[in-house]
Amino acid sequence: MIEGRDESENRAVRLTGGMVGGGPGSFIGAVHRSAASFDGMAEYVAGAFSRSYEKSLQTGKELGLDEDRVYDGFERMAEVEASREDGIDFVSIVVPNKFHYPVAKAFLERGINVICDKPLTFTSEQAEELQKLTEENDLFFGVTYVYSGYPAVKHAREIVRRGDIGDVRVVQGEYPQEWLAQPVEEEGNKQAEWRTDPEFSGRSNCVGDIGSHIENTVSYVTGLEIKELSANLDIFGEGRKLDDNAAMLLKFEGGATGSFWCSQVAIGHDNGLKVRVYGTEGSLIWKQEDPDHLEVNYLGKPKTVLSRGRDELYSSGEEKVRLPAGHPEGFYEAFANVYRSYLGALAEKKRGGDPDPEDFDYPSVKAGVQGVKFINACVDSSQAGGEWVELD
Ligand SMILES: NC(=O)c1ccc[n+]([C@@H]2O[C@H](COP(=O)([O-])OP(=O)(O)OC[C@H]3O[C@@H](n4cnc5c(N)ncnc54)[C@H](O)[C@@H]3O)[C@@H](O)[C@H]2O)c1
Repeated sequence: MIEGRDESENRAVRLTGGMVGGGPGSFIGAVHRSAASFDGMAEYVAGAFSRSYEKSLQTGKELGLDEDRVYDGFERMAEVEASREDGIDFVSIVVPNKFHYPVAKAFLERGINVICDKPLTFTSEQAEELQKLTEENDLFFGVTYVYSGYPAVKHAREIVRRGDIGDVRVVQGEYPQEWLAQPVEEEGNKQAEWRTDPEFSGRSNCVGDIGSHIENTVSYVTGLEIKELSANLDIFGEGRKLDDNAAMLLKFEGGATGSFWCSQVAIGHDNGLKVRVYGTEGSLIWKQEDPDHLEVNYLGKPKTVLSRGRDELYSSGEEKVRLPAGHPEGFYEAFANVYRSYLGALAEKKRGGDPDPEDFDYPSVKAGVQGVKFINACVDSSQAGGEWVELD
């Protein structure tokens, strides 16, 4: 994996971004803004931060943007930014799921690079259309599957790639949370309101919101694609229309098997993403709430726990380490690592190069397409009583 040029060379290319979503009181928009500027490679100069122009202006002012670059709607923003000589190099899409597709399409069609949050779209057709637009227009499309940004996860991926733990036999993934154990969507929690509403969330809540993170983290670490799955989606919250708990059995290409569990009603858990990979010669365990450590076991050898910053990781992980061991790195740093790779590709292109997206270590539109297929297969399977469903 080539990660573009030296950091200082990348910083010398001034990249400018725009944002759709991320207005007052929102969650992930501010994380994207920190992540994109973490390494001094980009700054935001434009935005349509909310469906309300007043709220959008409020965020624009807080960020010190020129008023003429705060837009009343993403269509207008795409149109004007594409026509400006100093128009944005990329747009960050941080709106509820429903809007990912139309917003991404509007910018791709006007030749603007996109980095979008997950799940990419509602349907596979929409996701594939975005992939086609990206390729046809020679653009870069990142999907912010943040867990791929942790150095320990990158090291885990390299361990599997090199065959250090042998052939993967079994994969276990889980992502329990407790935040929807009560009907907080009826008590003014904005994030819960749209996530539990099919109009804004899509066909699934829990699988789309956090099951998709398990799928991507497992796929990133193991390189395995899911061949077929059997899923059961539950709705525990009274009156809810979408799942708040789900379990899946999986068969991967090449013969490995596994199971995933995601839940938003698992009392006692915050963001308990955990991935375990068992091979013929060893195993790996990574937990997002203890992200600096990676448990690695080899048959007949004592258990080892690698510490990010202390123990040397394979280069793809080591080059993303920012702090000495014991100074915890977390969500912000991982997000910034996703952006660093994505912006590295944009910087190379802006310099006049012809970078290949495959050479940069960020989750691309292909991972986004895969995620949408996974979510829809889970819903289809559950609706068919747990029938095994193939992912094409
Ligand atoms: N990668 C991750 O780890 C991660 C974490 C959290 C959320 N997400 C994803 O990020 C997205 C946003 O989630 P959130 O929790 O930040 O939501 P949120 O409700 O906190 O924020 C959404 C923002 O989008 C704005 N908005 C809505 N429609 C808009 C439109 N048409 N044009 C412009 N702005 C609009 C809202 O006003 C709000 O400011 C979701 O797709 C979610 O799945 C990803």
